[in-house]
Amino acid sequence: MERLYNTSLLVASVVFLSASAALAEARNFSPAEGQKFLQTYCIACHQGKSPAAGLNLSQLGAADSFRDHGQDWSKIYTRVRNSEMPPRGLPAPSSDRRELFITWVHDALKTEACADGITPGRAPLRRLNRTEYSATVRDLLDLHLDLSRMLPADGAGGEGFDNAAETLFLSPIHAEKYLEAAKLALDFAAKDKRSRAKFLIAVPGPDTTPHQAARTILESFLPRAFRRPIDPADLQVYLALFDTSRKTGQSFDESILFALKGVLVSPQFLFRAEPQNPASEARLLDDYSLATRLSYFLWGSEPDSLLLALAESGRLQDPEILKGQVARMLRNTKSFDFVQSFVEQWLGTRALAQNIHPDAKLFPVYAADEEVQGDVRYQPVLFFREIVANDLSLLNLLDSNFTIATRKLQKLYGLDVKPPLADKAESPQRIELPPNSHRGGLLGMSAVLAISSHPQRTSPVLRGKWILDSILGTPPPPPPPNVPALEASVGPTPHTVRELLTQHRANPVCASCHSRIDPLGFALENYDAIGQWRTQDSGKPVDTQGELPDGTKFEGPEPLKVVLLEKKQLFIRNLTNKMLGYALGRGLTLKDSCVVDGIVTEVEKNNYTAHSLINAVVMSMPFRYQSGVVPLRTKR
Ligand code: HEC
Ligand code: HEC
Repeated sequence: MERLYNTSLLVASVVFLSASAALAEARNFSPAEGQKFLQTYCIACHQGKSPAAGLNLSQLGAADSFRDHGQDWSKIYTRVRNSEMPPRGLPAPSSDRRELFITWVHDALKTEACADGITPGRAPLRRLNRTEYSATVRDLLDLHLDLSRMLPADGAGGEGFDNAAETLFLSPIHAEKYLEAAKLALDFAAKDKRSRAKFLIAVPGPDTTPHQAARTILESFLPRAFRRPIDPADLQVYLALFDTSRKTGQSFDESILFALKGVLVSPQFLFRAEPQNPASEARLLDDYSLATRLSYFLWGSEPDSLLLALAESGRLQDPEILKGQVARMLRNTKSFDFVQSFVEQWLGTRALAQNIHPDAKLFPVYAADEEVQGDVRYQPVLFFREIVANDLSLLNLLDSNFTIATRKLQKLYGLDVKPPLADKAESPQRIELPPNSHRGGLLGMSAVLAISSHPQRTSPVLRGKWILDSILGTPPPPPPPNVPALEASVGPTPHTVRELLTQHRANPVCASCHSRIDPLGFALENYDAIGQWRTQDSGKPVDTQGELPDGTKFEGPEPLKVVLLEKKQLFIRNLTNKMLGYALGRGLTLKDSCVVDGIVTEVEKNNYTAHSLINAVVMSMPFRYQSGVVPLRTKR
């Protein structure tokens, strides 16, 4: 198996570095220099009969080694990037040299990965995560019951989403909880008139035996539950469950519910399996699998009857029909699940409902008002939905002249909107922003500003890191161990956070990272830890100047947004990585970055509209195709 690595990490070097002149030079970093780097810092331990970690670096460095030893190179990339190799305490390259090296490795690996064209990549078997399970049962039984709370939380995979196959295996705990959820859902549904009409579509009557009624119910339920036509053998399994239950003296209702519980815990329901492609060449996905991929991408739930009908007629792969379906699905309210799930995980704002708790004494407006908390949390989600619903430019996420706000949010932001929102306007509305409102784009939103703050104070470091990571897709390397906390290093006199950090940056070791992280965050110092506008910090005027190592200067949020808009290509690339990873439900590999290149070009050609991104993801090879059987590799 090819070891996978996360593209956002691999692409990451690029801006974190481009801050310096490193990038321009990197293009000139030759294989000879690469080899020299290994010779200087690595070879002492990684050569001879028993090299450290079994990794012999003495043959690496030649151009063809990227083809033959791709796995080793990707490990080297990660360990060097994270400053784990050479081990601490040994002579180490300067941070510029380190960056030159990893940029060179990255480019060589990517060139190699794209050499044999675009391929679909893996499409691993995955369990429905708990949100998908809950939504699927909702649609199947027409039952509005939040089952997700009953189920264990799902971890996040490669691109940071909880729908990634890597994490969606089935543990015994899961099996037990899913069985409980299935029981609960069916018992509720059986007592609800509307629900019953949806799934208990037959009853034993004068001309219908219980067995016949059960058959009719299962014949309609099974294809929807399994998201494809069923075999007679499938039907037999569940009819047998019904019959067994009847034989023990159970009523018709009890027996059919028993059989249906069996369906809801069956692997064919719980897992999204796709028929294997036996050929060695990639092929178009079958229509049912495509319908399922599409519906779990844009609705987080099972395909509806129209998608299944299109699959049955074999027309779903028609590009025009596919695009039409995407547009239809985005108009449906179920697409809110996609928007929320995607946005909250991409931006990290889901943490607002989990472990982000601004100090109650300092920020009572937030801490004491659950409505404000909800308004804050949903603002980025609703903003993204507005962009998708109206097919607006994705660059609005960086800066915009409108936002979505409730009356309370408007008050929190001190927004002077004319005409004022009506008194009854508790629900979120689109607001055209007045000049100098400081509220355009994601960076003007409390949700984002709060998750990148500490409970009692802002953190330019966390905000800078958030921009590098969530916006530009170029996360800084993790900090070295044993860095003292900011407060611990302070005397009794009050200092602004900025003053404290300036002390740190006097140390060149710290500066190698912090001179690239902190300035981005300084520009946002006008926002306090819950995103309210301020002009003073610790009794001193807020200083919002920032300067990146390449000399780019800005002061305050608006000029920072201009800088980010200049880097829009990185932003769109990052968003594309996230969207593709989410759509495929897996971490991306270096190979996928060739696909990402194509999608980015498409989005640029279409003025960055939201639908152009979503359509390009759906039309992409990894989404619509499946790989053939991968012949076993003999080479390591
Ligand atoms: C002082 C000896 C030493 C030096 C110098 C050194 N390494 Fe290592 N390396 C080790 C040891 C010991 C391990 C195994 C422990 C670990 O994984 O951290 C290791 C592990 C690794 C691994 C992980 C291999 C695997 O299969 O997981 C990689 C990759 C690596 N080194 C690359 C490098 C590179 C590249 C350099 C130079 C920039 C370097 N090392 C310099 C000692 C060294
Ligand atoms: C390899 C890059 C790197 C280096 C070198 C580095 N840091 Fe950091 N530092 C970070 C990152 C990334 C964070 C954010 C960590 C997080 O997500 O919690 C951070 C966080 C911090 C924080 C916490 C800020 C806050 O608001 O809570 C302090 C303080 C800090 N670093 C000080 C230092 C000092 C002092 C040095 C030098 C001894 C140093 N750092 C070296 C990357 C680095």
